[in-house]
Amino acid sequence: MSQDNEKRLAAETAALKYVGNGAFKGGIIGVGTGSTVNFFIDELTQYRDKIKAAVSSSEASSERLRKLGIDVLDLNAAGRLDLYVDGADECDPHKRLIKGGGAALTREKIVAAASDKFVCIIDATKQVDVLGKFPLPIEVIPMARSLVAREIVAMGGQPVWRDGVTTDNGNWIIDVHGWRIADPVGLETKLNQITGVVCVGLFASRPADVVIVGNREI
Ligand code: 5RP
Repeated sequence: MSQDNEKRLAAETAALKYVGNGAFKGGIIGVGTGSTVNFFIDELTQYRDKIKAAVSSSEASSERLRKLGIDVLDLNAAGRLDLYVDGADECDPHKRLIKGGGAALTREKIVAAASDKFVCIIDATKQVDVLGKFPLPIEVIPMARSLVAREIVAMGGQPVWRDGVTTDNGNWIIDVHGWRIADPVGLETKLNQITGVVCVGLFASRPADVVIVGNREI
């Protein structure tokens, strides 16, 4: 099966089980960002009667949701969410993730933190034993880019500025190459201490609750 078809299948499986058939009744749904989530958003059209509104992790997803007639709320107006569905760039056997390939990591982490259940939808290429082959995205305050990069070099990483990309929050992204992340919670905690770091694309302290790969739930 092609990678795109597997993404679409994961999106269909999540929509059917967690929105169509699930306990999700008339609630507000958290929606992430990326090509896999785009398939999920398209699936939501058939369950519109069950969705009061959505909270989205990016301007791109908000626009797609609104085009389908789904209201998009500010998280502050929504309160706690029952369900958040998002993709990932890498996923280990403990459902810990690398995210942020689409530069939406900060809002994604906020919406995940505000949600009772985080369902992650991926294709099989995203599954790894140890996180780190995919460069780890870190959102930084622009004036702190070099400061943060030097700290990362001191920690043994190879930082590369994602030149030309500004996040929805007006910040920049550094992608860190060369790390084999044996202790994702420890690294996430350590990176969060660096002044100028807004958000780390490691979702280890709050991993996914459910991962769907194609039509398999793990
Ligand atoms: C965006 C993300 C995405 O979830 C991640 O990049 C996966 O994207 P795709 O579904 O297009 O493979 O973290 O910041």
